[in-house]
Amino acid sequence: MEDKERGLAGAPGSVSKYVILGVTGSVAAFKSPLVVRAIKDSGIGVRVVMTEAAKQFVTPLSLELVSGNPVLWDSFQSPLSHIEIARDACALIAAPATLNTISKFSTGVADNLLTTLFMAFRGPVIIAPAMNWRMYDNPIFKDRLAYLKDKGIIEVTPERGALACGEEGVGRMASTQRIVHTLKRTLGANDMKGLKVIVTSGPTREYIDPVRFITNRSSGKMGRALARAACLRGAFVTLISGPSSVPPHDDVLDEIDDAEIIRVETSGEMEKAILEKSKEADIVVMAAAVCDFKPERFSQDKLSRSEGLTLELVKTADILGKISAHASKKTYLTGFAAETGDRKDRAREKLQKKGIDMIVFNDVTQEGAGFDSDTNIMTIITPTEELSIPKMSKDAGANRIFDKILLNIKGRN
Ligand code: CTP
Repeated sequence: MEDKERGLAGAPGSVSKYVILGVTGSVAAFKSPLVVRAIKDSGIGVRVVMTEAAKQFVTPLSLELVSGNPVLWDSFQSPLSHIEIARDACALIAAPATLNTISKFSTGVADNLLTTLFMAFRGPVIIAPAMNWRMYDNPIFKDRLAYLKDKGIIEVTPERGALACGEEGVGRMASTQRIVHTLKRTLGANDMKGLKVIVTSGPTREYIDPVRFITNRSSGKMGRALARAACLRGAFVTLISGPSSVPPHDDVLDEIDDAEIIRVETSGEMEKAILEKSKEADIVVMAAAVCDFKPERFSQDKLSRSEGLTLELVKTADILGKISAHASKKTYLTGFAAETGDRKDRAREKLQKKGIDMIVFNDVTQEGAGFDSDTNIMTIITPTEELSIPKMSKDAGANRIFDKILLNIKGRN
C-alpha cells in the first residue's frame, strides 16, 4: 500500500514536513522511540531509517508504531527511492550515530540505505554520536568528525556518564531534549546564526549585611524569553541573570551547546560580567532591572535590630551607559524602560542619555504587562521611530524585538 493511501504522517509527497531519523547500531538505540515521540510532539513527522545493526537494539515495529510510518533499512525494501525520501525531508538526524556510520558519512561510503540517503540529502544534517569514550577520543575519528563539522554537519555532543561497557567518560548520546532543540533551532528561521547576543535579566540584590539586601520585583521572565528566542534563531547567547524567580533550569538554554547562563547577584557582578563579554557582542539587550541604589556601606557582620538602622544609599553604576561608552560601534544596544504610566517621554530621554540604539518601553501598571506576568505590552523606541507591540506572550514579544533589531542592523550596514 502506498504511504499516501495509508494516510501516514509526514510521508514523502504529503504537505507536512518530516525528518529522516537514522538509527544506527549503538546501545543508545533503545532511546530512539523517545526521540521519535519528542520530534513528533513538536509537530514534525518522522521517517525512521535503520541500519541492520540497529535492529539488534530496537525493533522496527516499535519505531513504526511510534512514528506512524513504515521503517526502512534496505535500499530495495520500499518503492520510494532514496532520492525521493531524501528530496522531501527537511532534515536528517543520525541518533544514535556510531563511529562506523559517522566515518562512512565522512568518506562518502554509501553501502546501506542510511548512508545512501545521507549522500543524496541536501538539507541540514544533525548527528548525535554514541560510543565508548576511547573511540570518541580517537584522533582518527576526531579528524573525521571535524571534517564533517567543517562541511556544516551539526553535532549534538555526547555527554559524560556511565557507558554500556561499564566505563565512565564522554560518549553517551545527548539527551532527547538536546537533540530536539538542536533540530528546532536548525529548522527555525536561523536568521541570527553567527550573531553573539548578550541578554541580562532579573533583578539585582544590593547587600546591607550578609543576610539582608535591597532588590526589586523583576521576575526575569522577559530576559529569559529574549535569550530563548535568540537561541532558537541560531544566535550564540549569553544570558547574565540576576536572582530571578523563574526556575534556574531552562529547557532551551541548558540544552543547546551555543548558550551559556552566567548567574550573578549584585549590580557590581552584573557589570563585571557584561563589560567583559560585551566587547565581542553583536547585540546587547539589557532587560535586567538593575537596582538603582545600593547601601553606601556593607556591614560584614549581621546588623542588630537593637541598634536601629538608617540606610545611606548611593547610586549604582549605569551599566548600559558604561557599555555604550566602551562598546564597539557594531554592537547594537537595547535597553528596557519599565515605567509607571504612559511615560514614553522618560524612555526617550533614557535612549538619548545612555546613547543606545533602542529602548523598549512598558507601563508596568497595565494589566498583562510588566513584573511576573507571562505577557507584556511594549513600545519599541529608536531615535527615529516608535513601534507598538500589543499584548502578547513574552516569548512572542521577544521575537518582535529581535525582528526589529535585525532589520535595523541590516539598515545600518
Ligand atoms: N540600567 C543599567 N544600570 C543601572 C540601572 C539601569 O544598565 N544601574 C539599565 C536597565 O537594565 C535598563 C535601562 O538601563 O535597560 C533603563 O533602566 P531604568 O531603571 O528604567 O532607568 P535608569 O537609568 O535607572 O533611570 P531612572 O532611575 O531615572 O528610571
